[in-house]
Amino acid sequence: MPAPTPLANYRPYKNLPPLAGLCSLEEAARPGLLVEECVRRLKRCHYAFQRLHEILTARITAEPIYELKTGFAHHAYLCAEHVTALRTRIGEMREPPLGLEEVPHAALAMFFDEIRNTPTTEELLYGIYEVAMPALAGAIAAYLGDTNRLTDAPSVRVLRFAQLELKDCLDWGRQATAALITPAIRSRFSAWAELLGQLLAAAGGLDGTTPATDELPPRHYSAKPYVYDPIPQRDERFTDPWNQGVNAESFLYNETYPARAKALMMLYKRLREIDVPEMMARIITQTPGKPWGYYRDMSRQLWDEARHAMMGEVGFVALGVDWTKAKVTLNWSYRLNTECTPLEAHGVLYFIEQGLMPRTGKRYEFEVAQQSGLPLMATLQDFDWADEVLHSQIGRQWYVPAFRNLQEALHYGDVAWSKILSNWVTVKEKGLTQHENWWPAVYTMACQAAQEEPDPAVLAFCETYEGKRADLKEVGEALSS
Ligand SMILES: [Fe+2]
Ligand SMILES: [Fe+2]
Repeated sequence: MPAPTPLANYRPYKNLPPLAGLCSLEEAARPGLLVEECVRRLKRCHYAFQRLHEILTARITAEPIYELKTGFAHHAYLCAEHVTALRTRIGEMREPPLGLEEVPHAALAMFFDEIRNTPTTEELLYGIYEVAMPALAGAIAAYLGDTNRLTDAPSVRVLRFAQLELKDCLDWGRQATAALITPAIRSRFSAWAELLGQLLAAAGGLDGTTPATDELPPRHYSAKPYVYDPIPQRDERFTDPWNQGVNAESFLYNETYPARAKALMMLYKRLREIDVPEMMARIITQTPGKPWGYYRDMSRQLWDEARHAMMGEVGFVALGVDWTKAKVTLNWSYRLNTECTPLEAHGVLYFIEQGLMPRTGKRYEFEVAQQSGLPLMATLQDFDWADEVLHSQIGRQWYVPAFRNLQEALHYGDVAWSKILSNWVTVKEKGLTQHENWWPAVYTMACQAAQEEPDPAVLAFCETYEGKRADLKEVGEALSS
């Protein structure tokens, strides 16, 4: 029998847990990894999260399926948070200059380029959720197994958070691929799937712990340069995407209408916010060269706006309303993405969000929500308000400094917004929409579900966006102010 090691004989005082709960004595006594190897592997994880953030963000706008748009918005944000945490940790490891913008291996770059350039949603889902994220999760698990949990405790902490959220992403991805990738579709991209495997192998695995090679297979989807698609797309539940037939703000700020009906209109305004991720994804994708904090903060805001849309969805469902009957337009994100520069689009966003801060904005919406007598409505609007206060700060940090002062920054946004003011007539003449008044149908549905009689005055509401933009400025007046 081998003699018991000194470690096995060691007893902490009064049997208290040793090493502050990090791990066992035996684990801490294993040499683990040296700093240089830790940094090398952490940089690969950082690179993977950064590329995943980039790809997920770039695919939000043109992805038609609402559940995927919001899912990508969520996961892009999570990736951004882990990029931030890893950058901080790498900076603590004797590493300046950090070299965080360096590509760790050409094959790894090509691997992510291939996923970014996929022509179909199914291949994108496959590449991210069946190959890239599992490889990243594997790299993190291997790191946690190899490093010394005492010496490298700060990295272990960062990676455990990443592991937790990657697992959530992978669970979502498994359900999404099961729903969308049929065996027939899968068989169509089997050669490309093989290429992804070859590229990971050439990179020495995602973490570079197996032998790598400089010999790369030929590029497939990434043989052509990547072109970002800024045109917003929606799935078939969004039946009238150019409709500007119901002026939600006119209704909301009219004192004669009851709070309960206004709550319904606010749910429409929340759901309509799905156009904000569509335009913010474009700003983020087409604004290169900013400090990392810009991308992290903008991705947080993008994700909040996706949540606001989902709040609208939940509110409608809870009130027994089929939200597809409310015509959710993409006019705003479409025009910003095709007629304005990224900075102009950011200006419009900032200008609108500044308008939400006074008494007539988010506080008013919260008060109406409380008056509506619907507790869920108050919760939704309260957090919507808190988020918008944060967004106003994000704008002050990353948009306003491009100008000499706040007033100039606001004016720039106001002018840009006026530029895309009203295409009410144009879209009607083109036959894209008849601006159908969908409000009576939606209001009636809510009344039926609540077993209440519709209020004739509410039912008769029929103001459109023909002559007004959403901050109730008259068309024409906006430019001169
Ligand atoms: Fe919002
Ligand atoms: Fe916002």
